[in-house]
Amino acid sequence: MSEKVVSDYNGYDYKKEFWDNADREYEDQADRMAIRKLLPKRMEKFADIGGGYGRLANEYLKRARKVIIFDYSKTELEQAKEIYGDRIETRAGDIYKLPFKDEELDGLMMIRVTHHLKHLDKAFKELYRVLKPGGVAVIEVANKRTLPKMARFITGRSKVNPWSKEVANYKEISKDGFYNYHPKYAEEIINSTGFNTEKVLSVSNFRSKGLKKLFGTKNLVKMEDGAQKFLAPIRFAPSIYYKLRKPEE
Ligand SMILES: C[S@@+](CC[C@H](N)C(=O)[O-])C[C@H]1O[C@@H](n2cnc3c(N)ncnc32)[C@H](O)[C@@H]1O
Repeated sequence: MSEKVVSDYNGYDYKKEFWDNADREYEDQADRMAIRKLLPKRMEKFADIGGGYGRLANEYLKRARKVIIFDYSKTELEQAKEIYGDRIETRAGDIYKLPFKDEELDGLMMIRVTHHLKHLDKAFKELYRVLKPGGVAVIEVANKRTLPKMARFITGRSKVNPWSKEVANYKEISKDGFYNYHPKYAEEIINSTGFNTEKVLSVSNFRSKGLKKLFGTKNLVKMEDGAQKFLAPIRFAPSIYYKLRKPEE
């Protein structure tokens, strides 16, 4: 039997359920802020890998001449087409076998997808393959070494050791399970794939219901802006963003 490696968003209204009807304005703003700091200003051909319905498309449409939203879910891609029409091309498939030619792209991003990937190394190899030498990849990695996860481990509420480099698989969160990675584990893969790391940001630093209540979204977004660079060296945030470049030959 072949292994099931795709987290299936077909038939799920990710836009409505996860974003529009949920209190995630802070998380959305934190993602956008990081992308603006990391994506090149001008690109020829760009793909949003696991781009879903194109939540973040307004951050790259102005920067790239040709935009492709790639995803496994046809539901997501149909929604993206409805929203952005001819401004985007959609392409369906699996990240582990990207339907792109070698060196087809000069830019790509992959945000909020690594938590669905059991095989981070295979995915990074594919991203590297489809980028031109000199091309840029902006990638978000779901971090297992966060402060709340440390607290849960220390108090015995979780068995997942946030300090171990082993991949964390939280089976209880959904039927497919979710994966989180230790930054060192992710960075070893990044380096061995051949990417050069140009910048790292710590993102969604204040992702907490309590902090949202205490400070309000507007203030948290302001705090987040400064924190993304300042806190990057300690890698404690739930999302670590990497600006990677494929070396010129
Ligand atoms: C949490 S959503 C993120 C969407 C978008 N990047 C964003 O930040 O709003 C994860 C997306 O990854 C896609 N995905 C997960 N595993 C995939 C795979 N192996 N190949 C292609 N797409 C995949 C899902 O279909 C879904 O649209």
